[in-house]
Amino acid sequence: MRTHFCGLIDESLIGQTVTLCGWADVARDLGGLCFIDLRDHEGIVQVVAEPEQGVEGNAEVIATAAKVGYEDCLHVTGEVRRRESPNAKIKTGQVEVVARRIEVLNKAEPLPFHAHENPGEDIRLQYRYLDLRTPEMQRKMRTRTKLVQALRRWLDARGFQDIETPILTKATPEGARDFLVPARMHPGEFYALPQSPQLFKQILMVAGFDRYYQIARCFRDEALRADRQLEFTQLDMEFAWVSERDVQDTTEAMIREVFKEVIDVDLGEFPRMTYAEAMRRYGSDKPDLRIALELVDVDAQVKGSEFKVFTDWAGVDGGRVCALCVPGGATLSRKQIDEYAAHAAKYGARGLAYIKLSETGEVSSPIAKFFGDEQFAALVAHVGAGNGDIVFFGAGQYATVSDFMGALRLKAGKDFGLVEAGWKPLWVTDFPMFEWDAEEGRYVALHHPFTAPAVDDVDGLRANARTAVSRGYDMVLNGNEIGGGSIRIHRTAMQSAVFELLGIGAEEAQAKFGFLLDALRYGAPPHGGIAFGIDRIAALMAGTESIRDVIAFPKTTTAQCLMTGAPSPIPDAQLAEVHVAVRPKTAG
Ligand code: AMO
Ligand code: AMP
Repeated sequence: MRTHFCGLIDESLIGQTVTLCGWADVARDLGGLCFIDLRDHEGIVQVVAEPEQGVEGNAEVIATAAKVGYEDCLHVTGEVRRRESPNAKIKTGQVEVVARRIEVLNKAEPLPFHAHENPGEDIRLQYRYLDLRTPEMQRKMRTRTKLVQALRRWLDARGFQDIETPILTKATPEGARDFLVPARMHPGEFYALPQSPQLFKQILMVAGFDRYYQIARCFRDEALRADRQLEFTQLDMEFAWVSERDVQDTTEAMIREVFKEVIDVDLGEFPRMTYAEAMRRYGSDKPDLRIALELVDVDAQVKGSEFKVFTDWAGVDGGRVCALCVPGGATLSRKQIDEYAAHAAKYGARGLAYIKLSETGEVSSPIAKFFGDEQFAALVAHVGAGNGDIVFFGAGQYATVSDFMGALRLKAGKDFGLVEAGWKPLWVTDFPMFEWDAEEGRYVALHHPFTAPAVDDVDGLRANARTAVSRGYDMVLNGNEIGGGSIRIHRTAMQSAVFELLGIGAEEAQAKFGFLLDALRYGAPPHGGIAFGIDRIAALMAGTESIRDVIAFPKTTTAQCLMTGAPSPIPDAQLAEVHVAVRPKTAG
């Protein structure tokens, strides 16, 4: 239907006749002279319908052009010429197309919204096809395509085998709730959608596939956020006969080369940091290193004070008292400080003590009264605060304090413009093997139950479970966890011991993971791998905050698809076929 793309018309085509297809981005009728911005996936070019002496059909062209409205589908033939007043804002801005023929292929009804009006996300998601048609969304989706293509090229060139694994399967625990699918042929039984291909890729290693990858859809029924969807895409990888450095070095090189290729960014060599150091300095296992602020432990400086909240936790095992100094933060008003406290409270803070040092050195602090003058001066000096700064303090359980102080660090970094431009990748290593779940009174795996402990000794692990370190690692970029993996357990005895520590009894382990335990018995090689969040990497590359912008048809934070209306009720007859009865909704 066409000879060229709208967005690629340039000066080399001046004098030539071209035929284009596209949408009317904007149409202006200046009375006998019409301008149409014609748009396709490559960009926009200006089409002109103007009076031309002696040109057959000229009047008809102008009449058609005058009736063109937003998003009409047009088929245009015309001659390329140099524009009298160039438009530097668009790629084709030096030229225009003088229309000799315009056909309206499909008239668009008045639009529910116009892209220039900055519509809300709900309406954009309802009419996703209109939203995706905009140049900005086209650009973001193109970035995602380039990322996936570059990854595939890289992996294919290195002998990784792309193998598909089942979508209808048994539950693989990644810490979220499963999506279940009723099995019609097995009344009362269900398939689970995979939270990841974890167990299958491990079994592929046992099955002799040396290096595997898959661009795999994963399904997790969990609370949604800007960086989380119910279904998302991983670049899933597994390697046989490797240690963690093999996996890390290979995948670091891959990510570095792909960033260079897709967005021409040089990530450099990734620094490495243990989980313990990340929590101590940044209060997060995915620190955003673009922000130079760090948490400072102040146990020794507050121990002798009379502030009970601090003395109760200072130097206590499992406790933490730390400070965050925000340079220039003394400009914060009482109300703004309350907003910081409210933000910290969302992450579990019970209060947020602070010291504000005005430009002239006056102290304003609800906790100054609990300190002697010298003690107070030593505390201020220890955290490196000067005039014009504010220092926030957190005291409580180590994990809680780290969490809310880490969240404050991010907020202060953004509020005070302290987020350095550019890219800060890192590896976080040496994660704890287990976390104690006080509510359930049992350990939970910090990564997943198939991650190997650093010490390859079953009795040693049992004796030191609380402090055991795993062979897991995460790749972090600008404060986002973009990938996570580990060296796996490859012996049955260790795998059984870990299940047991996680409160999964022998019988349950056999029922849920018997196939894995069996496979490990028949010559399972040492193996390990990693999975990268494609949606997150694409969003970072495209420079957008939400992964919804790089997913063609995402769900809202209330887990709905506004375009199709999913999820939706199913007629009783269809439910009966799959042996399912819906329970009445219970209150709460
Ligand atoms: P993990 O659960 O860490 O590891 O997931 C790997 C990466 O996937 C991305 N990710 C998500 N992206 C969008 N929405 C979500 N709900 C979501 N959840 C995770 C993150 C994360 O780093 N089987 C293991 C990998 C392994 O051990 O090899 C796994 O799935 O970027
Ligand atoms: P209070 O004496 O209870 O009014 O507390 C004095 C200051 O300490 C207030 O600013 C509280 O917000 C703050 N505070 C209370 N509990 C904590 C805590 N666990 N961590 C940090 N600050 C706290």
